[in-house]
Amino acid sequence: MRLVSYEDELALLEHHIRAQGSSGLPIQILEAGCGREWCFRLPGLSYELTGLDLDPAALEARRSIKGDLTRSFVGDVRDADLPKGHFDVIYNAFVLEHVEGAELALANFVRWLKPGGILIVRIPDRDSVQGFLARMTPHWFHVLYYRWAWKMKDAGKPGFAPYRTIYEQIVSRKELERFCAKHALTIVDVLGVGTYRRGHGIARRITPFVARLISALTFGQIHDRFVDLTIVARKQPG
Ligand SMILES: C[S@@+](CC[C@H](N)C(=O)[O-])C[C@H]1O[C@@H](n2cnc3c(N)ncnc32)[C@H](O)[C@@H]1O
Repeated sequence: MRLVSYEDELALLEHHIRAQGSSGLPIQILEAGCGREWCFRLPGLSYELTGLDLDPAALEARRSIKGDLTRSFVGDVRDADLPKGHFDVIYNAFVLEHVEGAELALANFVRWLKPGGILIVRIPDRDSVQGFLARMTPHWFHVLYYRWAWKMKDAGKPGFAPYRTIYEQIVSRKELERFCAKHALTIVDVLGVGTYRRGHGIARRITPFVARLISALTFGQIHDRFVDLTIVARKQPG
């Protein structure tokens, strides 16, 4: 595992996405659980971006404000009817922790990927302080935290994060690695991303201390070394 900043993570992921573009044809990217926006800028790369999301309000905002999707569907990652073996890249960021039956979604991703295509999964690491707190605290607390630390006044309203957290066991490094092995996906990158020096104002100053304290109180079972986990895995070439 490499520990990286969010900026370096995006650069690395862009590199993985670009590497899929060697055929000369536009690469097919599925953003599964696309929400209101994505974080990549891919100038010079020819690609088509398909957005899938359960939340019509978020998808409508994505279409009307960002307008960056080639096509989009309101649908569920667990049972959407997308073509088999179609996508060069499936990008799934901060979605699986909100899904009951997340393994169904992962099995669909494998089915929808072309042989040789890559799956990018980003999740809050369940053993990080943030993942631990997300699992242990109620939804209303998440909403308050987003409004206070991130100054997101619309947090919790339709179409806006945070979404209700389920956090099944599969949403962890160990279980995702087990899933990849079982489905002949080769892991090409594992990243531990971010630090607790984040948020705004006083939140930015006290969060690293709170994270350190929680880690110490759990004798290191819960860590503050990084926040989020990213796994990049390749489907076996045909
Ligand atoms: C925390 S947001 C992340 C959005 C975006 N991927 C990002 O990184 O900013 C979670 C998104 O997953 C969507 N979502 C949750 N459960 C879903 C499901 N079962 N099928 C499709 N989308 C889902 C939500 O509607 C929301 O847009």
